[in-house]
Amino acid sequence: MKTAVLFVCLGNICRSPLAEAAFRAEAERRGLEVEADSAGTGDWHAGDPPDRRACRVAARNGVDVTQLRARQVTAADFLRFDHIVAMDRQNLADLRRLRPADARARLSLLLDHVAGREGQAVADPYYGGEAHFDETWSDVAAGARALADKIAAAR
Ligand code: 4NP
Repeated sequence: MKTAVLFVCLGNICRSPLAEAAFRAEAERRGLEVEADSAGTGDWHAGDPPDRRACRVAARNGVDVTQLRARQVTAADFLRFDHIVAMDRQNLADLRRLRPADARARLSLLLDHVAGREGQAVADPYYGGEAHFDETWSDVAAGARALADKIAAAR
């Protein structure tokens, strides 16, 4: 049984590709078989690699995201994935609006999975500096660890 998880932010070039990569690394560490992907609610960056600041913070943390390419979330994603995990409340509101009636995926915020951080957002680092991306990494890594623990415990 492979659990499939889609991480969603606005552009799919900063937060969600980092969350996808951090989650994949945490799953590998636990020997968990998972399918991980990411997408944006917006389509402006479709086909683009992650932002260079996201690539750098990933590399500083031992993960390569340079091969990922942005795409927009689709209605089919709600049938294909077990979990769709949003970075902030706007992403979550947009996902609820797109959700088809026969959706299978459970929607949540990434930090809902971290004890004591329920309801918190992974802040958009796009207009920030390098330090914001370190904070993004720290948030998505905490969320990825907690989600991987939950999925491992549910097996
Ligand atoms: P992300 O960051 O949602 O974490 O990928 C953003 C990327 C691009 C834009 C906004 C946020 N943008 O406005 O183009």
